[in-house]
Amino acid sequence: MNEQRFFRFLRERIGLDVESVGTPMVERALRQRCGAVGATDLDDYWLRLQQSADEQQALIEAVIVPETWFFRYPESFTALASLAHKRLAELAGARPLRLLSLPCSTGEEPYSLAMALLDAGIAPGAFLIDGMDISPSSVTKAGQAVYGRNAFRGSDLGFRERYFDALEEGHRLHGRVQQQVSLQVGNVLDPALASRDGLYDFVFCRNLLIYFDVPTQQRVFEVLKRLLHPQGVLFIGPAEGSLLARLGMRPLGIAQSFAYVRQEGGNAPLAVAPVQPARRTVPPLATAGYPPPAAPLPRPLRVLPMAPKPAPAREHAREGASELLASIARLANAGASEQARGECQRYLGQFAPSAQVYYWLGLLSDTEGDAQQALTHYRKALYLEPQHPEALVHLAALLASQGDLAGARRLQDRAARVGREPER
Ligand SMILES: C[S@@+](CC[C@H](N)C(=O)[O-])C[C@H]1O[C@@H](n2cnc3c(N)ncnc32)[C@H](O)[C@@H]1O
Repeated sequence: MNEQRFFRFLRERIGLDVESVGTPMVERALRQRCGAVGATDLDDYWLRLQQSADEQQALIEAVIVPETWFFRYPESFTALASLAHKRLAELAGARPLRLLSLPCSTGEEPYSLAMALLDAGIAPGAFLIDGMDISPSSVTKAGQAVYGRNAFRGSDLGFRERYFDALEEGHRLHGRVQQQVSLQVGNVLDPALASRDGLYDFVFCRNLLIYFDVPTQQRVFEVLKRLLHPQGVLFIGPAEGSLLARLGMRPLGIAQSFAYVRQEGGNAPLAVAPVQPARRTVPPLATAGYPPPAAPLPRPLRVLPMAPKPAPAREHAREGASELLASIARLANAGASEQARGECQRYLGQFAPSAQVYYWLGLLSDTEGDAQQALTHYRKALYLEPQHPEALVHLAALLASQGDLAGARRLQDRAARVGREPER
């Protein structure tokens, strides 16, 4: 295939697993870059790519996902504040705390770390934060530290009053927060990172691994583990924990913080992957009407209202359902898991079963370390909508983390086929 060499280039350079993000997204980026440089076809573009480091960077910029905002997953910042106090007491003034945000994207994450520590009463001289990202344009934006509305989400925006000045074009972060953060362009796959082994008390690596295939995730987790001080804490994204138990890390047990520390006694043997402790916070969902997860997949079901309704009422119901779905997404993205779960239950009580709602429930269970429940939910999502892309990707990651590499590969292939369909 003509495009495979580009996919290989992206995998080797930034770890991107094209199958996880879907080929259409990368194909769009290729078309965009071909247009920008006036390449006649993909062969011509390949030659230009080989000859220009700038073009290589431009292609990388075109495929990355820079989505981020301040205080994403708020509980992790609360957890950080109390862990930082504890760690400072252990260090007893021997050195400042060291933190790493990799990838830092446009800066919202490392600056949130700084604000959280300042809010916790920690002196500016007591901590240093490094922010690193592969995208030079994101790092430049981070350095400018002026943010629009999208950077401020959720309801608790008190920090904006405390740490920003309002300008016409957005909000500018105060210099006293900026000076806590050193920004740098860098690649998590760069072997030179080894010079920082053991340096960091806290490493934040969130919403990156989801775009990598399993071997690359494994490789990056090894890097992150080495970057951490032996007493350090690793913070990851909600959907990224499944592999960690196999690499000798265990969840710290702080709800919704996605924080991991080293397992006492070193690495857990890979062959006997320990299952993360299940913390069930809600009763199991009613499963009436669905086959057990192992049942063969039936014909795709259409998600329709249970009973025919008069047209205006149906329209009204559809609006209600999509509003509720949007609210679930907002709550889940803001880390308000309990509320998100409550809204999922409300949805299932009011509307016909929806693959998207089961996907969210799966993700919420996944983030809590309840792999079994997550499997069940993802499978229900796929029962209702066999091509649901996110459910396919997340279930694949979960199966891989449990050692079912063949099952994971099958689902990844299916996800890749789904990704290609709109292009046909
Ligand atoms: C979705 S953002 C995550 C930002 C932040 N950590 C968060 O969770 O809000 C993903 C970032 O990963 C960066 N990235 C992708 N591949 C990378 C790599 N190999 N090394 C470093 N950064 C990378 C992208 O440039 C992008 O800014």
